[in-house]
Amino acid sequence: MDSHIIDQLGRPIKDLRISVIDQCNFRCTYCMPAEIFGPDYAFLPKEELLSFDEIVRLAEIFAKFGVEKIRLTGGEPLMRKDLADLVGRLKDIDGIKDIAVTTNAVFLVRQAQKLKDAGLDRVNISLDAIEDHVFQETNGRGIKTKPVLKGIEAARDAGLKIKINMVVKKGMNEDQILPMARYFKGTGDTLRFIEFMEVGNHNGWNMDAVVSKKWIIEQIHQEMPLVPQDPSYYGEVASRYRYEDGSGEIGVISSVTEAFCSSCTRARLSADGNLFTCLFASSGYDLKTMLREGESDETITDYLLAIWTGRTDQYSVDRAQGKPMKENKIEMSYIGG
Ligand code: GTP
Ligand code: 5AD
Ligand code: SF4
Ligand code: SF4
Repeated sequence: MDSHIIDQLGRPIKDLRISVIDQCNFRCTYCMPAEIFGPDYAFLPKEELLSFDEIVRLAEIFAKFGVEKIRLTGGEPLMRKDLADLVGRLKDIDGIKDIAVTTNAVFLVRQAQKLKDAGLDRVNISLDAIEDHVFQETNGRGIKTKPVLKGIEAARDAGLKIKINMVVKKGMNEDQILPMARYFKGTGDTLRFIEFMEVGNHNGWNMDAVVSKKWIIEQIHQEMPLVPQDPSYYGEVASRYRYEDGSGEIGVISSVTEAFCSSCTRARLSADGNLFTCLFASSGYDLKTMLREGESDETITDYLLAIWTGRTDQYSVDRAQGKPMKENKIEMSYIGG
Protein backbone atom coordinates (compact mmCIF):
# COMPACT_ATOMS: atom_id res chain seq x y z
CA MET A 1 0.00 0.00 0.00
CA ASP A 2 1.26 3.47 -0.87
CA SER A 3 2.06 5.01 2.47
CA HIS A 4 1.87 8.56 1.08
CA ILE A 5 -1.80 8.88 0.50
CA ILE A 6 -2.68 12.55 0.49
CA ASP A 7 -5.92 14.47 0.72
CA GLN A 8 -7.23 17.24 -1.55
CA LEU A 9 -4.93 19.77 0.13
CA GLY A 10 -1.82 17.57 -0.14
CA ARG A 11 -1.82 16.41 3.49
CA PRO A 12 -0.73 12.84 4.31
CA ILE A 13 -2.40 10.84 7.05
CA LYS A 14 0.04 10.31 9.91
CA ASP A 15 -1.77 10.41 13.24
CA LEU A 16 -4.71 8.40 14.41
CA ARG A 17 -6.43 9.69 17.51
CA ILE A 18 -8.65 7.06 19.06
CA SER A 19 -11.25 7.92 21.67
CA VAL A 20 -11.79 4.78 23.74
CA ILE A 21 -14.61 6.11 25.96
CA ASP A 22 -16.83 9.21 26.01
CA GLN A 23 -17.09 9.40 29.81
CA CYS A 24 -14.85 11.35 32.15
CA ASN A 25 -14.40 11.70 35.90
CA PHE A 26 -13.94 15.48 35.39
CA ARG A 27 -16.43 18.06 34.15
CA CYS A 28 -14.16 20.75 32.74
CA THR A 29 -16.30 23.80 32.09
CA TYR A 30 -14.95 24.29 28.53
CA CYS A 31 -15.35 20.63 27.55
CA MET A 32 -18.08 18.86 29.51
CA PRO A 33 -20.05 21.54 31.40
CA ALA A 34 -21.84 19.88 34.32
CA GLU A 35 -25.21 21.49 33.39
CA ILE A 36 -25.21 19.51 30.14
CA PHE A 37 -23.21 16.43 31.13
CA GLY A 38 -25.25 15.79 34.28
CA PRO A 39 -26.70 12.58 35.74
CA ASP A 40 -29.22 12.31 32.88
CA TYR A 41 -26.72 12.65 30.04
CA ALA A 42 -26.82 9.61 27.76
CA PHE A 43 -23.25 8.36 27.42
CA LEU A 44 -22.58 5.52 25.00
CA PRO A 45 -23.72 2.13 26.26
CA LYS A 46 -20.90 -0.40 26.62
CA GLU A 47 -21.93 -2.49 23.62
CA GLU A 48 -21.62 0.56 21.37
CA LEU A 49 -17.94 1.05 22.26
CA LEU A 50 -15.43 -0.55 19.91
CA SER A 51 -13.85 -3.61 21.51
CA PHE A 52 -10.06 -3.77 21.75
CA ASP A 53 -10.12 -6.37 18.95
CA GLU A 54 -12.02 -3.95 16.73
CA ILE A 55 -9.68 -1.06 17.57
CA VAL A 56 -6.59 -3.16 16.84
CA ARG A 57 -8.01 -4.33 13.52
CA LEU A 58 -8.67 -0.75 12.39
CA ALA A 59 -5.27 0.42 13.65
CA GLU A 60 -3.60 -2.28 11.55
CA ILE A 61 -5.43 -1.04 8.46
CA PHE A 62 -4.53 2.59 9.24
CA ALA A 63 -0.87 1.67 9.75
CA LYS A 64 -0.80 0.34 6.18
CA PHE A 65 -2.03 3.77 5.10
CA GLY A 66 0.95 5.54 6.65
CA VAL A 67 -0.26 6.18 10.21
CA GLU A 68 2.78 6.16 12.51
CA LYS A 69 1.39 7.69 15.65
CA ILE A 70 -1.52 6.60 17.77
CA ARG A 71 -2.99 8.67 20.55
CA LEU A 72 -5.58 7.22 22.92
CA THR A 73 -8.02 9.79 24.25
CA GLY A 74 -11.50 9.96 25.74
CA GLY A 75 -13.34 11.38 27.61
CA GLU A 76 -10.87 9.97 30.07
CA PRO A 77 -9.14 6.97 28.44
CA LEU A 78 -7.93 5.47 31.71
CA MET A 79 -11.58 4.86 32.64
CA ARG A 80 -11.50 2.05 30.08
CA LYS A 81 -10.52 -1.09 31.92
CA ASP A 82 -7.17 -2.69 31.04
CA LEU A 83 -6.04 0.10 28.71
CA ALA A 84 -2.49 -1.22 29.03
CA ASP A 85 -3.56 -4.39 27.20
CA LEU A 86 -4.66 -2.27 24.26
CA VAL A 87 -1.39 -0.30 24.33
CA GLY A 88 0.59 -3.54 24.20
CA ARG A 89 -1.36 -4.78 21.19
CA LEU A 90 -1.05 -1.48 19.31
CA LYS A 91 2.68 -1.40 20.01
CA ASP A 92 3.08 -4.66 18.10
CA ILE A 93 1.66 -3.24 14.87
CA ASP A 94 4.20 -2.76 12.06
CA GLY A 95 4.83 0.90 11.32
CA ILE A 96 3.52 2.32 14.62
CA LYS A 97 6.38 4.35 16.10
CA ASP A 98 4.73 6.36 18.83
CA ILE A 99 1.92 5.63 21.25
CA ALA A 100 0.61 8.34 23.55
CA VAL A 101 -2.32 8.90 25.90
CA THR A 102 -4.08 12.20 26.67
CA THR A 103 -5.39 12.05 30.24
CA ASN A 104 -6.28 14.06 33.34
CA ALA A 105 -3.71 11.88 35.18
CA VAL A 106 -5.78 10.97 38.22
CA PHE A 107 -5.67 7.25 37.42
CA LEU A 108 -2.00 7.32 36.46
CA VAL A 109 -0.98 6.74 40.05
CA ARG A 110 -2.20 3.16 39.65
CA GLN A 111 -1.57 2.66 35.94
CA ALA A 112 1.55 4.57 34.83
CA GLN A 113 4.03 1.72 35.31
CA LYS A 114 1.71 -0.84 33.72
CA LEU A 115 1.24 1.42 30.70
CA LYS A 116 4.96 2.04 30.34
CA ASP A 117 5.67 -1.68 30.60
CA ALA A 118 3.10 -2.33 27.87
CA GLY A 119 4.96 0.05 25.53
CA LEU A 120 3.40 3.47 26.07
CA ASP A 121 5.84 6.23 25.02
CA ARG A 122 4.21 9.42 26.27
CA VAL A 123 1.41 11.06 28.23
CA ASN A 124 -0.15 14.47 27.68
CA ILE A 125 -1.77 15.57 30.92
CA SER A 126 -4.48 18.20 31.26
CA LEU A 127 -3.94 20.66 34.11
CA ASP A 128 -5.42 24.14 33.85
CA ALA A 129 -4.17 25.74 37.06
CA ILE A 130 -1.66 25.21 39.83
CA GLU A 131 -3.71 26.93 42.51
CA ASP A 132 -6.42 24.72 43.97
CA HIS A 133 -9.19 27.29 44.06
CA VAL A 134 -8.86 27.94 40.32
CA PHE A 135 -8.40 24.28 39.36
CA GLN A 136 -11.41 23.24 41.43
CA GLU A 137 -13.55 25.61 39.34
CA THR A 138 -12.12 24.62 35.94
CA ASN A 139 -12.53 20.87 36.46
CA GLY A 140 -16.13 21.31 37.57
CA ARG A 141 -15.82 18.63 40.23
CA GLY A 142 -13.95 20.48 42.97
CA ILE A 143 -10.92 18.23 42.50
CA LYS A 144 -7.69 19.68 43.94
CA THR A 145 -4.39 19.64 42.06
CA LYS A 146 -2.83 17.02 44.32
CA PRO A 147 -4.24 13.90 42.62
CA VAL A 148 -3.11 15.26 39.25
CA LEU A 149 0.36 16.17 40.53
CA LYS A 150 0.64 12.68 42.02
CA GLY A 151 -0.30 11.24 38.61
CA ILE A 152 2.40 13.37 36.97
CA GLU A 153 4.91 12.08 39.51
CA ALA A 154 3.90 8.49 38.79
CA ALA A 155 4.37 9.08 35.05
CA ARG A 156 7.83 10.54 35.69
CA ASP A 157 8.79 7.65 37.94
CA ALA A 158 7.68 5.22 35.25
CA GLY A 159 9.89 7.00 32.69
CA LEU A 160 7.10 8.31 30.44
CA LYS A 161 7.68 11.52 28.48
CA ILE A 162 5.28 14.19 29.72
CA LYS A 163 3.53 17.21 28.25
CA ILE A 164 1.15 19.30 30.35
CA ASN A 165 -1.87 20.80 28.56
CA MET A 166 -3.38 24.00 29.96
CA VAL A 167 -6.45 25.38 28.21
CA VAL A 168 -6.45 29.14 28.75
CA LYS A 169 -9.78 30.93 28.90
CA LYS A 170 -10.29 34.57 29.76
CA GLY A 171 -11.86 35.05 33.19
CA MET A 172 -11.17 31.42 34.06
CA ASN A 173 -7.43 30.97 34.49
CA GLU A 174 -5.29 33.52 32.66
CA ASP A 175 -3.83 34.45 36.07
CA GLN A 176 -2.37 30.94 36.19
CA ILE A 177 -0.14 31.30 33.11
CA LEU A 178 2.90 32.56 35.00
CA PRO A 179 2.49 30.35 38.09
CA MET A 180 2.17 27.29 35.82
CA ALA A 181 5.24 28.33 33.78
CA ARG A 182 7.26 28.84 36.96
CA TYR A 183 6.09 25.51 38.37
CA PHE A 184 7.03 23.39 35.35
CA LYS A 185 10.18 25.28 34.29
CA GLY A 186 13.16 23.03 34.83
CA THR A 187 11.13 19.87 35.48
CA GLY A 188 11.76 18.38 32.03
CA ASP A 189 8.00 18.38 31.29
CA THR A 190 6.77 20.50 28.37
CA LEU A 191 3.97 22.85 29.39
CA ARG A 192 1.61 23.77 26.52
CA PHE A 193 -0.93 26.56 26.55
CA ILE A 194 -4.03 25.92 24.45
CA GLU A 195 -6.28 28.65 23.10
CA PHE A 196 -9.89 28.04 24.15
CA MET A 197 -11.61 26.50 21.12
CA GLU A 198 -15.18 26.42 19.89
CA VAL A 199 -15.48 22.62 19.98
CA GLY A 200 -18.89 21.07 20.53
CA ASN A 201 -22.10 23.00 21.02
CA HIS A 202 -22.25 23.69 24.74
CA ASN A 203 -19.09 25.37 25.92
CA GLY A 204 -20.32 28.94 25.38
CA TRP A 205 -17.38 29.84 23.16
CA ASN A 206 -16.92 33.36 21.95
CA MET A 207 -13.90 35.22 20.64
CA ASP A 208 -13.76 37.48 23.72
CA ALA A 209 -12.95 34.46 25.89
CA VAL A 210 -9.88 33.54 23.82
CA VAL A 211 -6.47 34.44 25.24
CA SER A 212 -4.17 34.68 22.23
CA LYS A 213 -0.87 32.92 21.70
CA LYS A 214 0.75 36.34 21.25
CA TRP A 215 -0.40 37.55 24.68
CA ILE A 216 0.59 34.32 26.42
CA ILE A 217 4.10 34.43 24.96
CA GLU A 218 4.52 38.11 25.86
CA GLN A 219 3.61 37.45 29.50
CA ILE A 220 6.09 34.63 29.88
CA HIS A 221 8.85 36.22 27.83
CA GLN A 222 8.90 39.33 30.04
CA GLU A 223 9.79 37.26 33.08
CA MET A 224 11.41 34.16 31.57
CA PRO A 225 12.95 34.98 28.16
CA LEU A 226 11.99 32.64 25.33
CA VAL A 227 13.49 31.67 21.98
CA PRO A 228 11.31 30.22 19.18
CA GLN A 229 12.09 26.66 18.07
CA ASP A 230 11.33 24.70 14.90
CA PRO A 231 8.56 22.07 15.06
CA SER A 232 9.77 18.67 16.22
CA TYR A 233 7.70 16.89 13.56
CA TYR A 234 5.63 17.74 10.47
CA GLY A 235 2.11 18.61 11.51
CA GLU A 236 2.90 19.44 15.15
CA VAL A 237 0.04 21.57 16.49
CA ALA A 238 2.07 23.37 19.15
CA SER A 239 4.47 26.22 18.32
CA ARG A 240 7.57 25.58 20.39
CA TYR A 241 9.71 27.96 22.44
CA ARG A 242 12.68 27.17 24.64
CA TYR A 243 13.78 29.09 27.70
CA GLU A 244 16.86 31.16 26.92
CA ASP A 245 18.51 29.92 30.13
CA GLY A 246 18.32 26.30 28.94
CA SER A 247 15.75 25.17 31.50
CA GLY A 248 13.36 23.49 29.08
CA GLU A 249 10.63 24.35 26.60
CA ILE A 250 6.99 25.34 26.34
CA GLY A 251 4.43 25.22 23.53
CA VAL A 252 1.35 27.16 22.46
CA ILE A 253 -1.53 25.64 20.50
CA SER A 254 -3.09 28.52 18.62
CA SER A 255 -5.88 26.97 16.62
CA VAL A 256 -8.00 30.13 16.95
CA THR A 257 -5.55 32.96 16.22
CA GLU A 258 -3.15 31.05 13.93
CA ALA A 259 -4.81 28.05 12.33
CA PHE A 260 -2.60 25.11 11.41
CA CYS A 261 -4.97 23.24 9.08
CA SER A 262 -2.52 23.32 6.17
CA SER A 263 -0.43 20.60 7.83
CA CYS A 264 -3.22 18.69 9.57
CA THR A 265 -2.35 14.99 9.30
CA ARG A 266 -4.92 13.73 11.80
CA ALA A 267 -7.77 11.30 11.61
CA ARG A 268 -10.03 10.75 14.59
CA LEU A 269 -11.90 7.63 15.58
CA SER A 270 -14.74 8.01 18.08
CA ALA A 271 -15.34 5.49 20.84
CA ASP A 272 -18.27 4.06 18.86
CA GLY A 273 -16.28 3.64 15.68
CA ASN A 274 -17.08 6.72 13.61
CA LEU A 275 -14.22 8.23 11.68
CA PHE A 276 -13.90 12.04 11.62
CA THR A 277 -11.50 13.94 9.40
CA CYS A 278 -11.72 17.17 11.43
CA LEU A 279 -12.17 18.08 15.09
CA PHE A 280 -15.00 20.39 14.09
CA ALA A 281 -16.88 17.98 11.82
CA SER A 282 -20.56 17.43 12.37
CA SER A 283 -20.69 13.95 10.91
CA GLY A 284 -18.38 10.97 10.63
CA TYR A 285 -18.04 7.73 8.68
CA ASP A 286 -19.42 4.63 10.36
CA LEU A 287 -16.64 2.04 10.48
CA LYS A 288 -18.16 0.04 13.33
CA THR A 289 -21.05 -1.16 11.20
CA MET A 290 -18.59 -2.28 8.54
CA LEU A 291 -16.61 -4.22 11.13
CA ARG A 292 -19.68 -5.79 12.70
CA GLU A 293 -21.21 -6.72 9.35
CA GLY A 294 -18.09 -8.66 8.48
CA GLU A 295 -16.67 -6.47 5.72
CA SER A 296 -13.21 -7.49 4.55
CA ASP A 297 -10.01 -5.52 5.17
CA GLU A 298 -9.96 -4.73 1.44
CA THR A 299 -13.43 -3.17 1.48
CA ILE A 300 -12.61 -1.11 4.59
CA THR A 301 -9.30 -0.05 3.03
CA ASP A 302 -11.04 1.12 -0.15
CA TYR A 303 -13.54 3.08 1.91
CA LEU A 304 -10.78 4.79 3.92
CA LEU A 305 -8.88 5.57 0.76
CA ALA A 306 -11.92 7.29 -0.72
CA ILE A 307 -12.49 9.24 2.51
CA TRP A 308 -8.91 10.50 2.91
CA THR A 309 -8.27 11.29 -0.74
CA GLY A 310 -11.51 13.28 -0.83
CA ARG A 311 -10.76 15.21 2.38
CA THR A 312 -10.97 19.03 2.19
CA ASP A 313 -11.40 19.99 5.88
CA GLN A 314 -9.85 23.21 7.10
CA TYR A 315 -12.38 24.41 9.62
CA SER A 316 -10.15 26.78 11.60
CA VAL A 317 -8.94 28.51 8.45
CA ASP A 318 -12.53 28.87 7.24
CA ARG A 319 -13.66 30.33 10.57
CA ALA A 320 -10.78 32.80 10.61
CA GLN A 321 -11.87 33.91 7.14
CA GLY A 322 -15.35 34.59 8.48
CA LYS A 323 -17.19 31.62 7.00
CA PRO A 324 -20.25 30.68 9.08
CA MET A 325 -19.64 28.16 11.88
CA LYS A 326 -21.29 24.77 11.57
CA GLU A 327 -24.12 23.78 13.86
CA ASN A 328 -24.23 20.41 15.64
CA LYS A 329 -20.49 19.88 15.86
CA ILE A 330 -19.32 16.78 17.63
CA GLU A 331 -18.48 17.10 21.32
CA MET A 332 -14.84 17.13 22.41
CA SER A 333 -15.49 14.43 25.01
CA TYR A 334 -16.89 12.21 22.24
CA ILE A 335 -14.11 12.73 19.74
CA GLY A 336 -11.30 13.20 22.23
CA GLY A 337 -9.66 16.45 21.25
P1 GTP B 1 1.69 15.64 20.52
O1 GTP B 1 1.60 14.33 19.81
O2 GTP B 1 2.40 15.53 21.82
O3 GTP B 1 2.21 16.74 19.66
O4 GTP B 1 0.22 15.94 21.00
P2 GTP B 1 -0.99 16.79 20.48
O5 GTP B 1 -0.77 18.19 20.82
O6 GTP B 1 -1.24 16.45 19.09
O7 GTP B 1 -2.18 16.13 21.35
P3 GTP B 1 -3.04 16.57 22.60
O8 GTP B 1 -4.06 15.50 22.79
O9 GTP B 1 -2.17 16.87 23.76
O10 GTP B 1 -3.75 17.87 22.12
C1 GTP B 1 -3.50 19.14 22.65
C2 GTP B 1 -4.54 20.13 22.17
O11 GTP B 1 -4.38 20.37 20.80
C3 GTP B 1 -5.97 19.71 22.39
O12 GTP B 1 -6.71 20.80 22.88
C4 GTP B 1 -6.41 19.34 21.06
O13 GTP B 1 -7.77 19.45 20.90
C5 GTP B 1 -5.64 20.31 20.19
N1 GTP B 1 -5.51 19.71 18.89
C6 GTP B 1 -4.86 18.55 18.61
N2 GTP B 1 -4.98 18.27 17.30
C7 GTP B 1 -5.71 19.27 16.77
C8 GTP B 1 -6.19 19.54 15.46
O14 GTP B 1 -5.94 18.79 14.52
N3 GTP B 1 -6.92 20.66 15.29
C9 GTP B 1 -7.19 21.51 16.29
N4 GTP B 1 -7.90 22.58 16.00
N5 GTP B 1 -6.77 21.29 17.53
C10 GTP B 1 -6.05 20.19 17.77
N1 5AD C 1 -10.58 24.25 23.81
C1 5AD C 1 -9.29 23.87 23.82
N2 5AD C 1 -8.86 22.69 24.31
C2 5AD C 1 -9.77 21.87 24.82
N3 5AD C 1 -9.64 20.64 25.38
C3 5AD C 1 -10.88 20.19 25.72
N4 5AD C 1 -11.82 21.11 25.38
C4 5AD C 1 -11.15 22.17 24.83
C5 5AD C 1 -11.54 23.44 24.30
N5 5AD C 1 -12.81 23.83 24.27
C6 5AD C 1 -8.34 20.00 25.61
C7 5AD C 1 -8.12 19.39 26.96
C8 5AD C 1 -7.08 18.34 26.69
C9 5AD C 1 -7.10 18.13 25.23
C10 5AD C 1 -7.29 16.75 24.76
O1 5AD C 1 -8.17 18.92 24.75
O2 5AD C 1 -7.65 20.24 27.90
O3 5AD C 1 -5.80 18.75 27.12
FE1 SF4 D 1 -12.39 15.21 30.91
FE2 SF4 D 1 -10.32 16.10 29.47
FE3 SF4 D 1 -12.80 16.96 28.91
FE4 SF4 D 1 -11.63 17.74 31.18
S1 SF4 D 1 -10.94 18.22 29.08
S2 SF4 D 1 -13.76 16.98 30.97
S3 SF4 D 1 -10.42 15.94 31.75
S4 SF4 D 1 -12.06 14.86 28.70
FE1 SF4 E 1 -7.27 19.74 11.28
FE2 SF4 E 1 -9.82 20.47 11.39
FE3 SF4 E 1 -8.09 21.17 13.33
FE4 SF4 E 1 -7.91 22.29 10.89
S1 SF4 E 1 -9.61 22.51 12.35
S2 SF4 E 1 -6.24 21.52 12.13
S3 SF4 E 1 -8.51 20.54 9.59
S4 SF4 E 1 -8.77 19.10 12.81
